[in-house]
Amino acid sequence: MRKTDLLITRRSALKAVGGAAATGLLVRAFPTPAIAQAAPLRIGFMLPYTGTYASLAKNIDGAFRQYVEEKGGKLGGRSLEYVMVDDQAEPSKATDNMNKLVDRDKVDVVVGTVHSGVQMAMVKIARESGKLMIIPNAGADDATRSACAPNIFRTSFSNWQPCFPVGKVMAEKGHKTAMTITWKYAAGEEDVRAFKEGFGAVGGSVIGELYVPFPEVEFQSFLTQIAEKKPDAVFAFFAGGGAVKFVKDYAAAGLKKSVPLYGPGFLTDGTLQAQGEAAEGLLTTLHYADDLDNPTDKKFREGFKKKFNADADVYAVQGYDSAALLGVGLEAVKGDMKAADAMYKAMGAAKIDSPRGPLSFSASHNPIQNIYLREVKNGKNTFVKIAHANLADPGTGCKMS
Ligand code: BEZ
Repeated sequence: MRKTDLLITRRSALKAVGGAAATGLLVRAFPTPAIAQAAPLRIGFMLPYTGTYASLAKNIDGAFRQYVEEKGGKLGGRSLEYVMVDDQAEPSKATDNMNKLVDRDKVDVVVGTVHSGVQMAMVKIARESGKLMIIPNAGADDATRSACAPNIFRTSFSNWQPCFPVGKVMAEKGHKTAMTITWKYAAGEEDVRAFKEGFGAVGGSVIGELYVPFPEVEFQSFLTQIAEKKPDAVFAFFAGGGAVKFVKDYAAAGLKKSVPLYGPGFLTDGTLQAQGEAAEGLLTTLHYADDLDNPTDKKFREGFKKKFNADADVYAVQGYDSAALLGVGLEAVKGDMKAADAMYKAMGAAKIDSPRGPLSFSASHNPIQNIYLREVKNGKNTFVKIAHANLADPGTGCKMS
């Protein structure tokens, strides 16, 4: 973790304060607002820098910084400094970790997190404290439904969004029955619910649901149950390190050809190098693909490759767009976060030219975006078609106070 970012910025801040003290008259002539504007904005990244979701955190953090650097190091005239907390995708530590950022580190904005269970603990504190929070991955539906708030924005997806369209894709391939398999926690459960809604709407039926404790990766006994039950297809949600292992185990068990595997694109995003041949041919749905090839995506991918010597993925896109959304808000208020109402209004109305394509926001501050059908070909998640254009989450129960 780059703790040095904070140390370096602190040192230069002290130097700046010393300089200001030496010119006391000048400081009094331009009281606090000017000083506050000049101070760097403190961004608190709360992300799982270790564990099965570590690669997701790395790309969110990295691409956020990439965007800021491409804007000359400033958003809305404010330079930024970063504080990082490793939340370990561990819900039991989430409240303490979020409190550390808000109360001890006094960040201006929290950018986090990846895991839906951790997210809901963060949402509670964001609602109580009024701290601006940008969600760069976790799909917990309620974060932008019943628990929505003026200061909570999401640049990724609700769990419902990439999963609802999978049922129609399966039906178009002639599948009538399916089994589901996922980690047992909020994201997996909400994904399965959304898939069942979509599959049911086109006449499909789910004949078995399998749940693996998070973040375990012992899949063998579950794969045996799939082989015994012989559904037409399988819907799976895993991501990061768990997705790598699951896709490889699924192929090694000989199921790939007999029971086609589908899922939201987390199954194959940022994982293809490690999955190799096992992932070839898989069909998934997501708000990104590796070959969208619009000008913004081209520039983004080239910049990411240059900076990190790695290919961008959906998590990097979400980090990049989190910085873009913050930039829209800060531009609107010329960097003055005290003008929160105006800032949030601008963020809610933002129309972002994202690497994923057009990105705007529903009244509950959740993305409205295309969901693409992708096929893994030669180690890339290649675009097949738009599975659902401009899909907005229903936002059920959201009442902005
Ligand atoms: C979630 O917990 O919401 C999540 C984690 C990884 C990928 C997608 C969703």
